[in-house]
Amino acid sequence: MAFLDILTYPDRFLKNTAKPIERIDGSLQKIIDDMIETMYKAPGIGLASIQIGCDKSIIIYDIGHTEKQKSIQVLLNPVIIETEGETVSNNEGCLSVPDLRSDVKRAASVIVEALDRDGNPLKIEAHDHLAVVLQHEIDHLNGILFIDRISALKRELYKRHIRKQQKKNET
Ligand code: NI
Repeated sequence: MAFLDILTYPDRFLKNTAKPIERIDGSLQKIIDDMIETMYKAPGIGLASIQIGCDKSIIIYDIGHTEKQKSIQVLLNPVIIETEGETVSNNEGCLSVPDLRSDVKRAASVIVEALDRDGNPLKIEAHDHLAVVLQHEIDHLNGILFIDRISALKRELYKRHIRKQQKKNET
């Protein structure tokens, strides 16, 4: 297994849309294992393939990761087929958007269809925190970051912050 680099804003690859997986083979399993290792090391509670520069449709998450037990979930080709209600995520963050946390308007419940890593179809009904995580990760597969869903002013301040950081790193 290997640790992968996580792309960060404003890397253009993060704007890509993932392509559906048509064949589940050894090289795909290797990417999934590397993503899992990379997410736990970061550490994060979710990771999408786009964030590691891969455009196959994969998300992984473990929302219980602060507890000792790991319960990793792997979804291939996840699609939100239904949403219900509205909620505001509490201090959402992203491994690809360093130094920023923000509340984001999200659906309160979602139904997601996907395949597990062996290709078996899954249907997940999620509420609250898990619903937010699924929306966040599936957004990545559509080239969307959570900063695309916050106010223009907040986004502008963040962009300015990142530009400053980049200048600092150049000198
Ligand atoms: Ni993210």
